[in-house]
Amino acid sequence: MSEPSPSSVPAHVAIIMDGNGRWAKQRGLPRLEGHRRGVEAVRTATYAARDLGVKMLTLYAFSVENWQRPPDEVGALMGLLELYLKRELATFVRDRVRLLTIGRTEDLPAGVQKHLRATIEETKQFTDYTLVLALNYGSRSEVVDAARAYAAAVAAGQEKLNDRSWATFNRYLSTATLPDPDLVIRTSGEKRVSNFLLLQAAYAEFVFTPVLWPDFTKADLAAALAEYAGRERRFGLTSEQLRPAPAAGIT
Ligand code: IPE
Ligand code: IPE
Ligand code: MG
Repeated sequence: MSEPSPSSVPAHVAIIMDGNGRWAKQRGLPRLEGHRRGVEAVRTATYAARDLGVKMLTLYAFSVENWQRPPDEVGALMGLLELYLKRELATFVRDRVRLLTIGRTEDLPAGVQKHLRATIEETKQFTDYTLVLALNYGSRSEVVDAARAYAAAVAAGQEKLNDRSWATFNRYLSTATLPDPDLVIRTSGEKRVSNFLLLQAAYAEFVFTPVLWPDFTKADLAAALAEYAGRERRFGLTSEQLRPAPAAGIT
């Protein structure tokens, strides 16, 4: 399989990182060990994506539904997140990685919020490559929040009720300043979106891989990008519209 040409590299890749628990179970280890190894896979993917020409990587790290897991697991995940952020700040600054978040981060533990704020602030000047962490994220709560903010703006006279454009509504989503994902990858063999970027992925390509997240390597990412490169994104048009046949007489 040939390497994708630069133009066929997705600018924005989003990953539903799944399978930490199963990875641990297969080895007779506690689920937490799977999450620890999952953090290593996050580090690998962050740099692999950039090496492969991706400009933005969004990682689904914690969903609004994940709060319903056993309290011990939720606590351990928050602890790992805080540790990860604490350790990564210097690396992000050194490697010029901009950090952003989507989701209701105001409900995360104070320690996590503190590190998030610091890292976002210290990396805001970097423009070449962005890592977006989806934390306490869920598309439905995002839409509810956006609808409330939009309604408030209409009530305040800042928006018009009869403005039916997507571009206007989009400004109220937590992804307002981000491009839509071109490619969504889900690991662990599950073939569902689990409340992730439902609106933003309207025209994304999807790649599902059986690889469990802790085992996900640069080669797995490259394989997903190669699959993407072979797809034709039509955005509602016909193939012929996108690739007109050469005019008669021209050889
Ligand atoms: C993904 O792995 C990590 C999070 C959702 C936080 P899981 O913990 O969902 O792993 P499985 O699905 O149980 O294998
Ligand atoms: C999706 O994984 C959420 C994240 C990767 C953060 P889950 O493991 O929570 O999803 P379901 O429960 O299998 O749909
Ligand atoms: Mg899972």
